[in-house]
Amino acid sequence: MLLLRAVTGRRLPLPLPRRAWSRTGAARFAAGSPGPGGTGRAAPVLAALLGLGAVLAYGDRRRRTAQAAQAPRYPRYTREEVGRHRSPQDRVWVTHGTDVFDVTDFVELHPGGADKILLAAGGALEPFWALYAVHSQPHVLELLREYKVGELSPEEAPPAAAATGDPFAGDPPRHPGLRVNSQKPFNAEPPAELLAERFLTPNELFFTRNHLPVPAVDPGSYRLRVEGPGGRALSLSLPELRSRFPKHEVTATLQCAGNRRAEMSQVRPVKGLPWDIGAISTARWGGARLRDVLLHAGFEEQREGEWHVCFEGLDADAGGAPYGASIPYGRAVSPAADVLLAYEMNGEELPRDHGFPVRVVVPGVVGARSVKWLRRVAVSPAESPSHWQQNDYKGFSPCVDWDTVDYKTAPAIQELPVQSAITHPRPGAAVPAGELTVKGYAWSGGGRPVVRVDVSLDGGRTWRVARLAGERPPPERAWAWVLWELRAPVAAGAELEIVCKAVDGSYNVQPDSHAPIWNLRGVLSNAWHRVRVSVRD
Ligand code: MTE
Repeated sequence: MLLLRAVTGRRLPLPLPRRAWSRTGAARFAAGSPGPGGTGRAAPVLAALLGLGAVLAYGDRRRRTAQAAQAPRYPRYTREEVGRHRSPQDRVWVTHGTDVFDVTDFVELHPGGADKILLAAGGALEPFWALYAVHSQPHVLELLREYKVGELSPEEAPPAAAATGDPFAGDPPRHPGLRVNSQKPFNAEPPAELLAERFLTPNELFFTRNHLPVPAVDPGSYRLRVEGPGGRALSLSLPELRSRFPKHEVTATLQCAGNRRAEMSQVRPVKGLPWDIGAISTARWGGARLRDVLLHAGFEEQREGEWHVCFEGLDADAGGAPYGASIPYGRAVSPAADVLLAYEMNGEELPRDHGFPVRVVVPGVVGARSVKWLRRVAVSPAESPSHWQQNDYKGFSPCVDWDTVDYKTAPAIQELPVQSAITHPRPGAAVPAGELTVKGYAWSGGGRPVVRVDVSLDGGRTWRVARLAGERPPPERAWAWVLWELRAPVAAGAELEIVCKAVDGSYNVQPDSHAPIWNLRGVLSNAWHRVRVSVRD
């Protein structure tokens, strides 16, 4: 590898290649000579006097100190510099922990295929290793160590927004493996082929839907206001939210109303980001139940008449208007609806892009109502006055255009319709003859379980039933997607149009095409998903 590096003219950061060091080290230990710590034959005697554990700890510490003194110094890189190495031409760099690796020479050797390892190029390996558990073995880390070329700079803080005049300058770093639909504000989805590889989406690959810059929130001074007629006003700090209310955990899928918009816009152009099938992801959320907080503030379990619970984020537009949304009061206080004020995502504190330090999670409801960077919860007789409740995220007839649309005539989207998509194979792929595995996800709003996924390989003429993975969810609380799979024989030379459609517990089924459900904003795009592939010889 040393020779290869010299030939390619790259910087050679190691005084001695790691592999050479470990070989000599291993040989020395194998020969029984004292290691760098020098505990040698005195060890058993000392062990008798002081106890074996203490000696081992002492020897281990000395050995590590000595190793650290010998350890090569690596160059430091920022994440941005690592992010420039995304192809074999520019070299393929990845990070693991704070270490930087140049894996260009390994790409073609990768057992999972060059295309898979390239998805991680320029960013962290951890979210991909979370998807492919086969990497969680010591020898994989050993192998990776051979390719270490540097370390991440300790100071990785982005410049303050005010310093650059760019309101997005303070946005957090993102994984370069995400498929970006807009950089500012940041909107991105996981690569489709990874979506259904694992039930829980790793935080770094969870789709992100931001309308505005990500606010920088100081957790120490953060306060959540809760107010409205009929309750006493609360101002909760983060420790108070964590300690005063029981922690509740819910596994829920979030889906943006615009998921699969790109397909709808093929019927006729629509306004909005061209999401593919990845504006959907699943996490295990942890936090206080909204119901518990509202009851603590004195609000009743039931209210006569029309009431809503409105949410405001800390992100605001140029005029100071915050992102906002609302849900009906009944859903907010229902013990069965599992609405959370979440501070954890997959066992970690919320990442900045996903609402740090606190966000709402409304299971079974369009993602737009799960307000991030939550600053205010207000009980109100009216829905949120926010643009995103009143003038967006509503569905219209195909006959409504931008000259005739009247937002007041349509209800705000809450529960989403049944949805499914094929994540493997990808459109245009040439799949090998023999047994084809088709994979995907399916989900429905309102906690309705997916009871069946039908798959066709001939454009919808004939159907087979896919195998649904995982356990059956509790009735009416199926907040998370199901992953499904179908294996079928395919003959060389065939051209396949793979189609999937899901059926939920109310026997709602996806419509067969987008034309009859087309709408000017391209929301609620849930027609049968179709993927054309050819079968190679
Ligand atoms: N909350 C705030 N404060 N600002 C936003 O832009 N976007 C909403 C919702 N909550 C948004 C927000 C939309 S449209 C969606 S789909 C989800 O957040 C996306 O959540 P995610 O970025 O964690 O996937």
